[in-house]
Amino acid sequence: MTEPEDLIQAAQAAFAAATQPAALENEKARFLGRGGRLTELLKGLAKLPAEEKRTQGARINAAKERIEAALERRRGELAEAELNARLAQEAIDVTLPGRRRGAGGIHPVIRTWQRIEEIFGSIGFDLADGPEIENDWYNFTALNNPENHPARSMQDTFYVDASDEHGKPLLLRTHTSPMQVRYARMHRPPIKVIALGRTYRVDSDATHSPMFHQVEGLWIDENISFADLKAVYTDFMRRFFETDDLQVRFRPSFFPFTEPSAEIDMMFTSGALQGRWLEISGAGQVHPSVVRNFGLDPERHIGFAFGSGLERLTMLRYGVDDLRLFFEGDLRFLAQFN
Ligand code: DAH
Repeated sequence: MTEPEDLIQAAQAAFAAATQPAALENEKARFLGRGGRLTELLKGLAKLPAEEKRTQGARINAAKERIEAALERRRGELAEAELNARLAQEAIDVTLPGRRRGAGGIHPVIRTWQRIEEIFGSIGFDLADGPEIENDWYNFTALNNPENHPARSMQDTFYVDASDEHGKPLLLRTHTSPMQVRYARMHRPPIKVIALGRTYRVDSDATHSPMFHQVEGLWIDENISFADLKAVYTDFMRRFFETDDLQVRFRPSFFPFTEPSAEIDMMFTSGALQGRWLEISGAGQVHPSVVRNFGLDPERHIGFAFGSGLERLTMLRYGVDDLRLFFEGDLRFLAQFN
């Protein structure tokens, strides 16, 4: 017959061999269950004489207690092992570098936009904003581009599949100049304003994009002259490029909405681009017909306007030679400006 002490050892060995809680519970049944080996021992008591029954019964009880203790210990061990395994699996490696949220940045053309607003704002220009979908009158006619005049074909236009109240197709504005008219018709002189925004033309190469940005400037009062234009624009250039080492010149040109008209050229007198005249803006004295379309009397009110491309200014400022880079969204390019 099995001795109660042998049973303790057998149970301890069986419990130790169980590596899963379910297996351990099976072993428990084998030793402590109703049909288990301890019960068998107890059944054996019945045949013993009274004296032996007591000592044998005490030994069996002691064994039962130790087996139960062994079971509890093993349960604890398995539970702890399971917990440790889970902790190991879910462990966070605190030595890994943190994941940062990518920082956005200002697009170089928008940075130019902001600087222009700041510079002109500081010398008393208002800021105006208007529609990118324009009608024929504001974009062309009011700016002294007569219908069928060849000057219209200077600007290859995107038309929109909708018409204005005169049956003329709407279009994506080809320049910011319509803002001169929109703004001047709503304000009394002195009119001193810039309008920045997107403009569109059927045009695409290294220096042209179908969508680009312009800044329009307009200063109308009773005696605003080319001298004022030259002073304002030169000051703007110097502040924009952060150098006094540049010269500005006017070159005769043609725009329907100005008379006389000029191209503004600039030249750096130091630095990488030194010594070359660079075309930077259209400008001119606002044409009397346009002043009339402002709702003003050209005998009394006079002034200048200019229109400059933001991409061009940005390219010169940063030495970028292909305008398409601005719109490809390549972060390797864009990240350099932040
Ligand atoms: N609107 C012209 C263009 O897009 C630029 C321009 C020229 C604007 C002369 C003006 C100006 O205000 O006076 O080519």
